[in-house]
Amino acid sequence: MDKLQITGGRPLEGEVRISGAKNATLPILAAALLADGPVTISNVPHLQDVTTMIELLGRMGVSVTVDERMRIEVDPTTIREYFAPYELVKTMRASILVLGPLLARYGHADVSLPGGCAIGARPVNIHVAGLQSMGADIHIENGYIKARAGRLKGTRLVLDTVTVTGTENLMMAATLADGETVIENAAREPEVVDLANFLLAMGAKIRGAGTDRIIVQGVEKLQGCEYEVLPDRIETGTFLVAGAITRGHVRVKNTCPEHLDAVLLKLQESGAKIGQGENWIEIDMRGKRPKSIDVRTAPYPAFPTDMQAQFAALDAVADGVGTIIETVFENRFMHMLEMRRMGAEIRLEGNTAIIKGVQRLTAAPVMATDLRASASLVLAGLVAEGRTEIERIYHIDRGYESIEEKLSGLGAQIRRVPN
Ligand code: UD1
Repeated sequence: MDKLQITGGRPLEGEVRISGAKNATLPILAAALLADGPVTISNVPHLQDVTTMIELLGRMGVSVTVDERMRIEVDPTTIREYFAPYELVKTMRASILVLGPLLARYGHADVSLPGGCAIGARPVNIHVAGLQSMGADIHIENGYIKARAGRLKGTRLVLDTVTVTGTENLMMAATLADGETVIENAAREPEVVDLANFLLAMGAKIRGAGTDRIIVQGVEKLQGCEYEVLPDRIETGTFLVAGAITRGHVRVKNTCPEHLDAVLLKLQESGAKIGQGENWIEIDMRGKRPKSIDVRTAPYPAFPTDMQAQFAALDAVADGVGTIIETVFENRFMHMLEMRRMGAEIRLEGNTAIIKGVQRLTAAPVMATDLRASASLVLAGLVAEGRTEIERIYHIDRGYESIEEKLSGLGAQIRRVPN
């Protein structure tokens, strides 16, 4: 298994191009199952999770072709099986996103129940209850969600918790249902809106995506289309923090600044000068040490849980004491323990981390535990004295395209080495 070696200490300078959003690509690939013909998706990031979703579709008999520019054509008309096996679902929980489309389009889905994961229990009860309210017959058998339905029926769904993939599964299922479905307390994430735009391009009738009330008028069928995935706001935020933590000057290109309001506000609070245009953001720390900031995660448009770990790294070397409160997942502080091994002064109390910034971190061998945790260790490595080695970087490859190449392009000393 590969490792990342990072020698810290250089301020990052230059430009970096942001890839398509992982969390929009995955539901869009699943939604392709709803179409009556081929769909073509562009700006797809080259990531392990995308490969896993392609493999999952391939196992069902769906034809998937990928060209050298990562344009993906999905032809669902060759489907033979309506099945998501445990071995794939366990490596990627987002596999659950095939449940709604399979059930709505083919009336049949056997999808492995995802287990717990490194950041918490992460149940899918809201996905299942929503589909049941739409008339599906669902039971759990041998670790699998076995779902059967005739044509689903539109209804009013009030989600218990704001769930991103739950909202997506139900919105996808509703596109082919009989009548109108109203999803109350829907997730408002930009990736939900991107999925809705993709479904609209296929001929779906959806209003309200981006608000907490999504209304879907079911249609008889959906056709193939072409679609470009939106830029990844979490990759964008991660590179901005890389600029801030190294006291550098970085411009991210091909992004959507309006999706990062909460993150940009926090970066400004830390002392960064932020510039932005239609599709770029620039961060300039002017060589200064960042100031500590307080963060509280919550569903969009509040501060994203997927950026919490990166800001913990920033606080670890900032001037002052910062507090990070995680409200979305119950166990998302594993990176804090690894950062302590690099000299960070972090106290954990339940879902709160209190971080007293130190002048410098020191390199240590550390282990990535989940996707965003590994990003925070890379950030810490960029400013640590000496050479940090990060193991289990398959986590980072799930969600960051060519991270070492992009960081090297900004002047970081980072390389991938075989273990
Ligand atoms: C998605 C993102 C992930 C991000 C998360 C929160 C994808 C592929 N992944 O994950 O990167 O960290 O949103 O922004 O888009 N919950 C339930 N029952 C359910 C579903 C969720 O109780 O049926 C709870 C979860 O345990 C969690 C909260 O709801 O505490 C939010 O989770 P959710 O939004 O569903 O996260 P994901 O969609 O899995």
